[in-house]
Amino acid sequence: MEGGRKLFGSVRMPGAKNSVLPIMAAAVLCTGTVTITDAPVLSDVRACIRILNRIGCTVMLCGTNIRITPPEHPGSSIPPELMRSMRSSLFFLAPLLARTGQAEIGMPGGCRLGARPIDMHLEGLARMGAEITEKQEGGWMLKAPHGLKGAHITLRFPSVGATETLLMAACTAYGTTVLHGAAREPEVTDLAQFLQSAGAQISGVGTSELCIEGTEFLFGTQFAVCPDRITAATVMFAVAGCGGEVLLTNIRHADLHCCAQLLERAGCSIAPLGKSAAVIASSGRLRAPGSWQTGVYPAFPTDAAPLAAAALLRAQGESAVLDSIFENRFACAEGFCRMGAQASVCSRTLRLRGVPELCGAHVTAPDLRGGAALVLAALQAQGTSVITGTEHIDRGYENIAVLFSQLGGAVTAAEKQREGFEMAQ
Ligand code: UD1
Repeated sequence: MEGGRKLFGSVRMPGAKNSVLPIMAAAVLCTGTVTITDAPVLSDVRACIRILNRIGCTVMLCGTNIRITPPEHPGSSIPPELMRSMRSSLFFLAPLLARTGQAEIGMPGGCRLGARPIDMHLEGLARMGAEITEKQEGGWMLKAPHGLKGAHITLRFPSVGATETLLMAACTAYGTTVLHGAAREPEVTDLAQFLQSAGAQISGVGTSELCIEGTEFLFGTQFAVCPDRITAATVMFAVAGCGGEVLLTNIRHADLHCCAQLLERAGCSIAPLGKSAAVIASSGRLRAPGSWQTGVYPAFPTDAAPLAAAALLRAQGESAVLDSIFENRFACAEGFCRMGAQASVCSRTLRLRGVPELCGAHVTAPDLRGGAALVLAALQAQGTSVITGTEHIDRGYENIAVLFSQLGGAVTAAEKQREGFEMAQ
């Protein structure tokens, strides 16, 4: 990457990664074909297709449409290497258990942002009647040969993943399930709306209390995935840090409220255009917005914290961001420092003191959003940067090099081996 250029142009946001992955897993609950539209084409989506194939689903990817036809009798185990390929492999737990009466899984992979236990997923399923055995070689065997049954479950923390697992489990369980303290992230709402479109009886969608009346089966459906708010935040923070003016389309203003507020505090202008577009403009010289912290929706999203930090590396003054969700959100600080930033991490807080210039460096992406944050820093840095470990970034962005080069950033990606992706089975 050659940094130091302002960004101009327009860009349409793809469908959300954190929405399409649970929806693809939830397709296993359906007895007919599921067509997902506006799906982002990411390496995590490819990993998800491999799991679907493994349990017997027919999957076709055509542009941004994914068609999934589950078999009458899906397999019930996912091999460890496929489990480790991404965090979202965990989303198959509930659909397999609900559809086949058992599920055998290993520990999921994903970004090393902290311990990331799955106790709330397992405890909730146990409350719904699953018998759970921890396997000696690692992983779990869950059984519910006579089906899951509805239960009243209170989550000790509004975990996105646990809410989604229990929501999927409840749709075809016997009786009523009430989830108290559920996560309210837009991607949870998207999953609930997908399930509703397949015949699930869910009320309280978008609130922290979800009530699900189990039905015997779900049927095939077509569903458009919601826009990716974190990709939108990535572009917004890139423009903020580099300077320039960019039109973003296919966004939802409410999903981006906290990011927009922070950017306005730092001196950017954000002008909404109708319901689903906005223009962000920045001189590239920001003022540090002080201290802020991440939290569960509708608070500032944890995934956007490293991206916001990258935008503020050259801001006038000091910033501090505390991540209240994950223990190790700011592994990208080391890369920031290599580029000449003044950044330090103490416990869960990243502190920044703005510097006048960043300089290009050779850095490694530590995780998905941390890697994207290093791309944002390199876009602002004088001279050449090389970023390795980009497989982390590919899990969440269709092609980050194309995303920014179409806006005038000088980013080139080393040639990648494209997998036969058009027809996965
Ligand atoms: C999802 C998102 C991720 C986002 C995160 C928080 C997907 C695919 N990923 O991750 O991008 O950063 O939400 O918005 O949607 N926890 C437990 N026990 C559990 C489950 C979670 O202790 O059983 C803890 C986690 O360690 C973490 C916190 O709860 O500290 C939040 O995790 P959770 O909301 O579950 O995040 P994910 O679903 O993993």
